[in-house]
Amino acid sequence: MISSRLIVDRDFVISELDRRVFGTFVEHMGRCVYTGIYEPGHPTADERGFRRDVMELTRELGPTIVRYPGGNFLSGYNWEDGVGPKDKRPRRLDLAWYSTETNQFGTNEFMQWAQEVGVEPMFGVNLGTRGPDEARHFVEYCNHPYGTALSELRGEHGFAKPHDIKFWCLGNEMDGPWQICRKTAEEYGRTALETAKVMRMVDPTITLAACGSSTHDMPTYGEWEDTVLEHCFDQVDFISLHTYFENKHDSTEEFFGNIDVMDLFIKEIVAVADSVAARKHSQKRIMLSFDEWNVWYKARSIDDLRKPGWPEAPRLIEEVYNHEDALVNGGALITMMNNADRVKTACLAQLVNVIGPIMTEPGGPAWRQTIFYPFAHATRFAHGKVLRPVIDSPSYEAKTFPEIPYLCASVVDDEASGQTVIFALNRHLSEDMELKIELRSLGKDRSLVEAIELHHTNMKATNTKDAPNTVAPAKNANVKVEGESVVAKLKPGSWNVIVTKASDR
Ligand code: AHR
Repeated sequence: MISSRLIVDRDFVISELDRRVFGTFVEHMGRCVYTGIYEPGHPTADERGFRRDVMELTRELGPTIVRYPGGNFLSGYNWEDGVGPKDKRPRRLDLAWYSTETNQFGTNEFMQWAQEVGVEPMFGVNLGTRGPDEARHFVEYCNHPYGTALSELRGEHGFAKPHDIKFWCLGNEMDGPWQICRKTAEEYGRTALETAKVMRMVDPTITLAACGSSTHDMPTYGEWEDTVLEHCFDQVDFISLHTYFENKHDSTEEFFGNIDVMDLFIKEIVAVADSVAARKHSQKRIMLSFDEWNVWYKARSIDDLRKPGWPEAPRLIEEVYNHEDALVNGGALITMMNNADRVKTACLAQLVNVIGPIMTEPGGPAWRQTIFYPFAHATRFAHGKVLRPVIDSPSYEAKTFPEIPYLCASVVDDEASGQTVIFALNRHLSEDMELKIELRSLGKDRSLVEAIELHHTNMKATNTKDAPNTVAPAKNANVKVEGESVVAKLKPGSWNVIVTKASDR
């Protein structure tokens, strides 16, 4: 057994949690849209073709915002193809994923689906093959009330009321050599600035995110953000970050180090953004949109990325997640919550089938992958202010990160309900952890509401169509609350949620 301590104080607040950090992502890629969220003819499909089983699981997962329509797909997308009568919509080659895009699902269908599952939309504009002109028209089509050709076209398509989409991404991963019409930082920074200007002229209430580096490992990492923000600092609110965790050393201990690298990544981008602010003598602070993150390394071969013959909705990157993947994702959620002062939106990429927490079979069932659970716990329980965690834990040395504490934790306190929630990972693989938590100034008459653990003795255990509940949360009976302190026993390699409530504050 190892021992760790976690101390928080009501007065030591990182920030109010922006619940838009619990976003996901729907891209026209593989089977995310077609046979994922949309499958007319499926036994559970509603009259619009939306799979009800997937909608139910999405509600249970609880994302707050969903990014759409891509991803790399975005850089070749004509938004006009996906609106209006379905029988008139063109079939197009999707150059990002070597697929045929039927355009049977588009902006208006996505907005109906988003409304039905209760999520905010986060849209992207194509800055690959297209530019400011299409972007301003897209905003006008979506958000302008009436009285212009495009707003009236939306009305003719059955949507008289504007969609009022607030959050817009200026392109996707524009530094990536794989991107359709990749740009240099100078080219992209200028384009992002001019696009942002015209989009805001159409609708000054929108929020805009510029593309950061595609990954932490890009050769131009850091320099890219600096140059891009040098151009568009005044016109954007967010810079994006993307990361896909890999188990490069085939070692769970090493894999866990990705969580600490994510924290470093966030802090480095904050430093770059603030250095641009300093150069400009500006007190404005650019916020971070971690709008693609997940584990992704098993289904990443060329065969996973493209299928011959321009198929419709092929099976692409259908990563099957295991228990250790769920733990890493839990750690990522903890990291983003602990950086709540700057990370204000984030999207687990993606939602269904394509590196998704939800899997489906065409005409068949839908089920929860292992990574579903930490995300669903965070969306359900994390409300209020994130408190600064003081962590006293033994640690280990690894190649991915020099010093990795076995305890990884975040504490979120909700003044309104009196609930203080602890999210914690025990990263030790063979020892239980005795965790002593001090919740200072948060009320002494405290009780335990719920204690949940996600644990499996096999780090490689997965949930599949035929065995969908192999990895599932259970009650942790080893948690005691006494006054301001909580003592818990956390199993080796486990994700834990401890919900406590004070009645005297
Ligand atoms: O999420 C899969 C792909 O990964 C996205 O299309 C792209 O933005 C990223 O490289």
